[in-house]
Amino acid sequence: MSTTAFIPFALPEIGEEEIQEVVSALRSGWVTTGPKTRQFEQDFSAFLGSDVESIAVNSATAGLHLALEAIGIEPGDEVILPSYTFTATAEVVRYLGAIPVMVDVLDQNFNIDPLAVEAAITPRTRAIMPVHFAGLSCDMDALLAIAQRHGLKVVEDAAHALPTTWAGRNIGTLSSDVTVFSFYANKTMTTGEGGMVVTRNPEIAKRCRIMRLHGISRDAFDRYVSTSPAWFYEVVAPGFKYNMTDVAAAMGIHQLRRLKGFQLKREAMALVYDAGLEGLPVILPCHAPAGDIHARHLYPVRLLPEAGISRDEFIVKMSEQGVGCSVHFIPLHLHPYWRESCKLTPDMFPVSQKLFEQEVSIPLYTRMTEEDQQHVINAIHKVLQDV
Ligand SMILES: Cc1ncc(COP(=O)(O)O)c(C=O)c1O
Repeated sequence: MSTTAFIPFALPEIGEEEIQEVVSALRSGWVTTGPKTRQFEQDFSAFLGSDVESIAVNSATAGLHLALEAIGIEPGDEVILPSYTFTATAEVVRYLGAIPVMVDVLDQNFNIDPLAVEAAITPRTRAIMPVHFAGLSCDMDALLAIAQRHGLKVVEDAAHALPTTWAGRNIGTLSSDVTVFSFYANKTMTTGEGGMVVTRNPEIAKRCRIMRLHGISRDAFDRYVSTSPAWFYEVVAPGFKYNMTDVAAAMGIHQLRRLKGFQLKREAMALVYDAGLEGLPVILPCHAPAGDIHARHLYPVRLLPEAGISRDEFIVKMSEQGVGCSVHFIPLHLHPYWRESCKLTPDMFPVSQKLFEQEVSIPLYTRMTEEDQQHVINAIHKVLQDV
């Protein structure tokens, strides 16, 4: 028996420490970007365990925009990214008047196909944006080698990939130019809304810091703690309003401390699903290569034709069984804006199209109990048996 009447697709796990830290931010009088944001940024760099700088922003979308701006993407430039992603990955390219070039993904793990990337390179290509789908790293060796061969920048969309490793190294510490993480409500850790830009390049870090706050040379906290007059600042570029608040950072500080534990629980839960769904007419998600970490943001299941039920119908039946499911993703080539503005058709993305038709994400989050998970497994067996 489930402990919950309905098991939603995702729920954040917010503890007493987060609540107390948020209260402390509220009581302190410093609610916008200030000491807690600074601490969160420092803790984040320490967590990744490398010489990277972390710049906290109010969403990963904002972070991706800042990253592309900081690496110098200009109108007419081409940026290669997977069709199988959330619209944020592509929309930020458009913000800069540049052209997103969508390519197909790999059947085995939903991640961008390095061969398709190489085939899409033109003289106008400036950057590649790999997306670590569900929290499993892309083949970063292949992608970084392509970037190096062609003189391209790499901005990793790591919205799902915290913590994730590639060849034993944390995503965020590879030789890409910038990596961006998301702390949206359903992610592996949350600040409600939020994101982190991570880079080892001091020029990019400086530009992102300035552009996240109106293009102003000093943020409010800088001015507050500095010995020079607090009222003085200079606008050096037409920037954005993308800074993280201390209220959000207060949550982030404690979510980050619990992240390793969250990841271990997610991995254990993924193994429970693997065992509970074995033998059904489905393809289960990939594991990370031996020794590497999969963030397990999502547990994407593929319904095979033998299941005899469409993905859409499966979701309706799961809901009748008290389980919320989702779909990741509706690929970009199926959305009217991208389809029309980039002239995309499903036959250009055969793998993405097939994955979309088969994919259903089932609930996986640390607040689920063993009973909840068993309820989901039983519901899947029932729905597939009743076909
Ligand atoms: C792959 C991917 N990139 C970017 C984002 C945007 O993240 P945010 O909501 O923090 O802007 C998401 C959000 O779900 C995502 O799935």
